[in-house]
Amino acid sequence: MKLDVYLKERRKLVDGFLRHYISSKKKDRDCPKHLCEAMSYALTAGGKRVRPILCIAGYEAVGGTSDNILPVAASLELIHTYSLIHDDLPAMDDDDFRRNQPTTHKMYGEATAILAGDALLTDAFNMISLSDAKPETLITVIGELSRASGPEGMVGGQTVDIILEGKKAKKKELLYIHTHKTGALIRASVRIGALMAEAGPEKINALTRYGEKIGLAFQVIDDILDVTATKEELGKSAGADDARGKNTYPSIFGLEKSKTLAEELIHDSLESIKLLNHKAKPLADIARYILSRRN
Ligand code: IPE
Ligand code: IPE
Ligand code: MG
Ligand code: MG
Ligand code: MG
Repeated sequence: MKLDVYLKERRKLVDGFLRHYISSKKKDRDCPKHLCEAMSYALTAGGKRVRPILCIAGYEAVGGTSDNILPVAASLELIHTYSLIHDDLPAMDDDDFRRNQPTTHKMYGEATAILAGDALLTDAFNMISLSDAKPETLITVIGELSRASGPEGMVGGQTVDIILEGKKAKKKELLYIHTHKTGALIRASVRIGALMAEAGPEKINALTRYGEKIGLAFQVIDDILDVTATKEELGKSAGADDARGKNTYPSIFGLEKSKTLAEELIHDSLESIKLLNHKAKPLADIARYILSRRN
């Protein structure tokens, strides 16, 4: 199957699940209208759905076939969307535009944006509890997701990103920022797919290495696109990293070296999954797509 067809089909499944989630939230009389609207605004604005799709692709690559994967895959998008809402706040990157529309705090105010992020984060774990998979498997998944998004993962990376803003990071610090703020959740997305399919250690290790490599490459490319793409292409502000004194791969290594590093990471990710069979083809295609994407 061609990658664009694969992405379209999987995105449709994820979007359908998320739409159902958000419409039931809106009907829930205990969720304040203003809050539900802000959550819906951020979640349904588009977005590539890379993390849920990676989770499904990881699951399918090791033989998973059940719909049980959907709530788990979609929960990754709730966490990711929460991280974007908070990342855009004035206290963090202070961005006005995201997913082709004004940022959540621009539309609903800072307090509601913070709370909408909190709500999506919390609901992610409720969503996992709705999967029919084995309780032991779900507990492993919850542990994996909490570690990847919490202080040892995404939140840790975001913290160092902010602390070192305006200062020149050492290469080791830059690597920490990128592997944590972005790499950790992407790595977890693929691993969670494999855990849900109850894959053995050899396959889990292969997918972990793959996830690590594409996770770092994803943020290196995000940094490169901030320099080389337009606001129209990205659906978010361009050139913002330099303006804010962010530590990025282009700012530390230069644009050409950053592109070479991203290519090497994608090459390594493909090497890691060579031992898997044809069911891993979408993962290989997604890795190549991460390198060539324009948004
Ligand atoms: C943007 O993520 C933030 C990073 C972690 C680099 P995406 O590029 O996946 O953003 P959406 O979800 O498609 O909007
Ligand atoms: C953000 O990195 C990573 C997150 C955890 C949200 P960036 O700050 O570079 O993401 P963009 O460029 O605003 O999407
Ligand atoms: Mg940021
Ligand atoms: Mg940002
Ligand atoms: Mg960026």
